[in-house]
Amino acid sequence: MKVAASILAAVIASASSFVVQPQNTRRDTFLSARKPFITGNWKLNPTTKKEAIELATGIANAVSDSSPGDVALFIPYPFLESVESAVDGKVTIGAEFITAEESGAFTGGVSPLMLKSMGIEWALAGHSERRTLNGESDEEINEQCLMLIENGMNVVLCIGETLEEFEKGLVDSVCAIQLKKNLAGVTPEQMKQVTIAYEPVWAIGTGKVATPEIAQDVHKVCRDIIADMYDETVADECRILYGGSVSPESVDGLMAKPDIDGTLVGGASLDDSKFGRIINFETVEE
Ligand code: PGA
Repeated sequence: MKVAASILAAVIASASSFVVQPQNTRRDTFLSARKPFITGNWKLNPTTKKEAIELATGIANAVSDSSPGDVALFIPYPFLESVESAVDGKVTIGAEFITAEESGAFTGGVSPLMLKSMGIEWALAGHSERRTLNGESDEEINEQCLMLIENGMNVVLCIGETLEEFEKGLVDSVCAIQLKKNLAGVTPEQMKQVTIAYEPVWAIGTGKVATPEIAQDVHKVCRDIIADMYDETVADECRILYGGSVSPESVDGLMAKPDIDGTLVGGASLDDSKFGRIINFETVEE
């Protein structure tokens, strides 16, 4: 208990030193400024290659000329090539993580160069499950981002607070810490290769989706942090996705918010009709 309490105190102390004080009040940006980006994260699913191809084909069939945005799926390594050919260019296929090394004695590792040689140019970094279950640190996530970017690839950097941090009002500070640490060394020009996914950990896989209002507030804060780290143009061009229990029922309300540019979907991306509905979200007037 004592150890847990002191770890929490340290987190709070380090978070407080990062309290965000936006230097200026920025105008709202609007979705029309950025093309929507609907993405799925299959995690350790499905179990077989046959199921992966069927699911991907069903998802690709849901994408049409009238779909509002770009679509990508982040999937397990063994399925990359067969799913890539099954979706026939309608969906971008990416990896769920990478090893931040080019080659060498790293058993179990997969380097961005290997992925690139297969035509895979996207990967997630910093998903909360990798942070907690695999103990990936902010520094390691930063190395992964840099490795992808420097090899001409694109990264969806996942950030977000735990329930405890949310309840203590530390959301802005946690996002600032993660953005600053995970994007250290990334140049303004390289930010074109970066998408951010804000995923509150308490909303992932729990069925507790953040309200559009909460998500919008945090997305706006993240955009302000990016503007402070870089400039307004970089902030306005950067797509910020929301992730955490997104469903066909919640997607329209989320996508109506000006700073929510897309979604990172776990559970519902394993069902082609649910994910198809999310891909073809409807524009609702606010
Ligand atoms: P979920 O997962 O949609 O099942 O909550 C989201 C994620 O982990 O990216």
